[in-house]
Amino acid sequence: MGEFSGKTAFITGAAHGQGRATALLLAKQGADITAFDVAKKLGYPRYEFGTGAELESLKGEIEALGRRAVIASGDVREDAAVRKAVEETMAAFGKIDILFNNAGICAYASVDSMTDDEWNAMIDINLKGPFNVTRRVVPYMIRAKSGVIVNNSSTMGLRGGNRLSHYTASKWGLTGLTKAWAIELAPHNIRVVSIHPTGVNTPMNDGLAAMEGTTPIEIAERSAGNLLPVPWIEPEDVANLVAYVASDKARYATGSQFVLDAGLLCV
Ligand SMILES: NC(=O)c1ccc[n+]([C@@H]2O[C@H](COP(=O)([O-])OP(=O)(O)OC[C@H]3O[C@@H](n4cnc5c(N)ncnc54)[C@H](O)[C@@H]3O)[C@@H](O)[C@H]2O)c1
Repeated sequence: MGEFSGKTAFITGAAHGQGRATALLLAKQGADITAFDVAKKLGYPRYEFGTGAELESLKGEIEALGRRAVIASGDVREDAAVRKAVEETMAAFGKIDILFNNAGICAYASVDSMTDDEWNAMIDINLKGPFNVTRRVVPYMIRAKSGVIVNNSSTMGLRGGNRLSHYTASKWGLTGLTKAWAIELAPHNIRVVSIHPTGVNTPMNDGLAAMEGTTPIEIAERSAGNLLPVPWIEPEDVANLVAYVASDKARYATGSQFVLDAGLLCV
């Protein structure tokens, strides 16, 4: 019996990176998984997004672990796609115990060169996206009188990032949503927490490096200040944190910010 036997998790941005690692870990620990991802290239940022093939292979890996998987292609900005995925999940699993609001984008821009489109895409995906998904999942959690929502913010949701003002604003906003939802949903026995990783070794980091004409390690080092001697952490490290905060071991944590930063925020 795993920690999450009989539980279900709805994970956005699950095709690759941190979302995929978390889907696999929760499935290994017994959860059935809905993997939601835009699964196509968006015009912005100009880097690789998840793919339909990655979603299909993730489904195969989850099923090989003996768990059930629902895969759903859709954009967290599109209410119709989110509703459809939530309805498919309810039809397949009958409940949603864990929501991991993980889908997000990142790109650099100085404040005086940032366009309306760049600002809007960042805020719409990273901040409004979690709102879009949460409002469709929460009614089922309220009905069940139970649930855990984990928001993937960033160290940039607790500090500033150079040439990342739109990203930083979106991630601080997500920290704020975490606190507000924790207050609103505690009477329904629903916990809401945010996690705050330092740079993570994912396709996002590779994409930023390609856009900036530099290396992934240089991108990770720009966040300047992991105290431990590592340029980045791995997606599996984040998955371990999500598994903890989503479990009953963290049953009295709500409204809290869980930092996984290799010491970055100390200075
Ligand atoms: N990589 C890092 O250094 C880092 C550090 C801290 C926090 N984060 C945050 O962690 C989360 C996951 O990042 P990652 O590193 O795994 O990134 P990633 O780019 O490797 O993966 C993100 C996934 O989200 C999907 N996605 C993007 N926009 C979407 C949309 N509009 N609708 C649905 N799916 C969408 C992508 O297709 C992709 O599969 C993001 O919110 C990111 O901001 C990343």
